[in-house]
Amino acid sequence: MIVVPEIPSSPRLRTIGVLTSGGDAPGMNAAIRAVVRWADAHHVRTFGIQRGYTGILDRRVELLTSRSVANLIQRAGTYLKTSRCDEFLDPEQRRRAAQILRQWDIEGLVVVGGDGSLTGAKLLAEESGIAVIGVPGTIDNDMGGTEVTIGFDTAVNTALDAIDKIRDTADSHDRCFVVEVMGRRSGQLATTVGLAGGAETILVPEKATDFEAVVDSIDTSITRGKTNSIIVVAEGYGGGTGHDLTEQLNARGYHARACILGHIQRGGMPTAYDRNLGSIMGAAAAAHLTAGETGRMVSLQSGRIGLVDLDEAINGKRMDAVNMLELARTLAT
Ligand code: F6P
Repeated sequence: MIVVPEIPSSPRLRTIGVLTSGGDAPGMNAAIRAVVRWADAHHVRTFGIQRGYTGILDRRVELLTSRSVANLIQRAGTYLKTSRCDEFLDPEQRRRAAQILRQWDIEGLVVVGGDGSLTGAKLLAEESGIAVIGVPGTIDNDMGGTEVTIGFDTAVNTALDAIDKIRDTADSHDRCFVVEVMGRRSGQLATTVGLAGGAETILVPEKATDFEAVVDSIDTSITRGKTNSIIVVAEGYGGGTGHDLTEQLNARGYHARACILGHIQRGGMPTAYDRNLGSIMGAAAAAHLTAGETGRMVSLQSGRIGLVDLDEAINGKRMDAVNMLELARTLAT
């Protein structure tokens, strides 16, 4: 249950922009819709900027109305499209972006994205005075200051659905499967789906991998009468790819198979949770931005929506993986 906060409703800014940046995440459209409709209801104009920061530099903007964002809440991806904009690392390009925003009278920007995107937002705000409010949107759930990011819940359920299906065939063939989920620097997705999917072993970037411990866990499972096992690995777990691990296991005599879930984890109809999180965070971002806040990100902590400094947000979430991994192992024996 997310507690909807008292949202400020006396806008001082009259024109804002909204963009999505970095990897898309299911629920981003709900956030875009909420920004536009909240602003519309409070007589604030919203420009939609296409393809993240690239769209500012390329002047790809459109004025959005409540009707522009109709029929969007149930769709994954991002209506505004997205990009990873390397040009924005250059201060000169950020200065140019601020100038362009001012030409359209855009006084503040809602940026929906992950840590790279919000780092760009922070620098833009500090260097140019353009107000920015971040909305955490990434399936990785690796932002600091918020317990959950938009898209995580849908990605967890997508990966879990795949793991359940893999378990069917693993069970039929008495096989070991290595399932690689996304997360270059974070094991949030891997631990959450691993525990929920009954994985025998979970490998994450936050904890060094010991190949012999993986072998031991499979052997222990076999000794205890289990005929199949699932090893969930985050893509950045540190021991190569899921294919590499599978090859290593097969070299030791296990007839393992690899399944790399990849980008399917970023698509699919957003869950109710992500639609609601996107809606509430998007509205809160528009409200706080137009009320004069800047340099902050909308967050969820203990069920309550609030704001945290962008510095805290982009510092990342430190996960204490040990207890979670231990519990998953105990419950899978
Ligand atoms: O958006 C986060 C993320 O999905 C990571 O989990 C993954 O490592 C990365 O994006 C993949 O990025 P790309 O789509 O650019 O290959």
